[in-house]
Amino acid sequence: PGVLRVALLGYGVVGSQVARTLLQRADDLAARAGARLELTGIAVRDARRPREGVPAVVPADLLTEDAGSLVDGADLVIELMGGIEPARGLIHRAIAGGASVVTANKALLAAHGPELFEAADAAGVDLSFEAAVAGAIPIVRPVRESLAGDHVRRVLGIVNGTTNYVLDQMTTHGLELEEALKEAQGLGYAEADPTADVEGHDAAAKAAILASLAFHTRVSLSQVACEGITGITAADVAAAQQTGHVVKLLAIAEQTAEGVSVRVHPALVPVAHPLAAVRGAFNAVFVEADDAGPLMFYGQGAGGRPTSSAVLGDLVSAARDRMVGGRGPRESAYASLPVLPHDAA
Ligand code: NDP
Ligand code: HSE
Repeated sequence: PGVLRVALLGYGVVGSQVARTLLQRADDLAARAGARLELTGIAVRDARRPREGVPAVVPADLLTEDAGSLVDGADLVIELMGGIEPARGLIHRAIAGGASVVTANKALLAAHGPELFEAADAAGVDLSFEAAVAGAIPIVRPVRESLAGDHVRRVLGIVNGTTNYVLDQMTTHGLELEEALKEAQGLGYAEADPTADVEGHDAAAKAAILASLAFHTRVSLSQVACEGITGITAADVAAAQQTGHVVKLLAIAEQTAEGVSVRVHPALVPVAHPLAAVRGAFNAVFVEADDAGPLMFYGQGAGGRPTSSAVLGDLVSAARDRMVGGRGPRESAYASLPVLPHDAA
């Protein structure tokens, strides 16, 4: 088979798991992709700092602080650094060099998605992002592709694993928010700056991406009304329990008579509702479409290994596209979306 050179940007919670699987499952991945996926390097901030618990299977000499040169030599680039810069510039550089890109960076896509997808479209390369929404749950492709012929009316669910874990620990063990958040950080669920999780910004970014795909329009982060969970105490959660409810951070995107409405906020969910049973860092997304009716997606919404599943699925798919000399229709569908005509918030 042929060989495709893979550059990995980031070696943290998700990146280290992706590197491990790329090396450990190399033969299987080659068979599925139609080419060997050769990991040529891993970009980090500090290549020399001691790293505990990283996979022994990954040779230390793959680490580099020169992300730009790594990108320049790649056919496939996996961006798992997070944040806006240098991730944004490196993705542009990868696309300009003809590489296909896989990213889990919802903050970047919600803020700068259109410019990146337009660049990918113009270059004729894939820019894939299944891992950017709800971790391991396949939700981007179903909404974008499987429901492309339907009319989606509402998307509703829990799309942030950290806050769900935190609220769950507050409910079941009476922990205060800060204590539960520390646990979520230790388990690798939280963003580098966990304010993004607890203030609802991460869920808002995912809601903007889902709403854009579901309603065939462009919803930016600033158009999502957002309230996080920082005001919620263990006493609030206990009071909710007394009335037969659990507190959940919900993301809701719907078509209304006035247009598209997208919001993120804590809500009281009756204990008998399926969303009340979503525990720990799991996520669940309900989609309501005219013809399909109600659909439910459920699974692990955060963590290195679950997220690596979605990243590697995109990678194999992008590799296949390159091996047949073309690309899927998926990404162009997002780039050509019209801009939302009003402020949804
Ligand atoms: P981490 O903070 O654990 O890892 C980030 C990695 O990127 C580190 O290896 C870091 O280098 C490297 N990095 C950061 N900035 C730079 C830079 N300027 N130059 C070079 N390297 C850099 O992040 P995660 O793995 O948790 O998340 C990565 C992405 O995946 C984010 O976009 C996140 O939103 C997304 N995501 C995360 C999920 C999760 O459960 N954790 C789930 C779904 C998506 P160094 O090691 O030297 O510090
Ligand atoms: N911090 C995010 C979460 C990671 O907790 O859901 C997954 O996108």
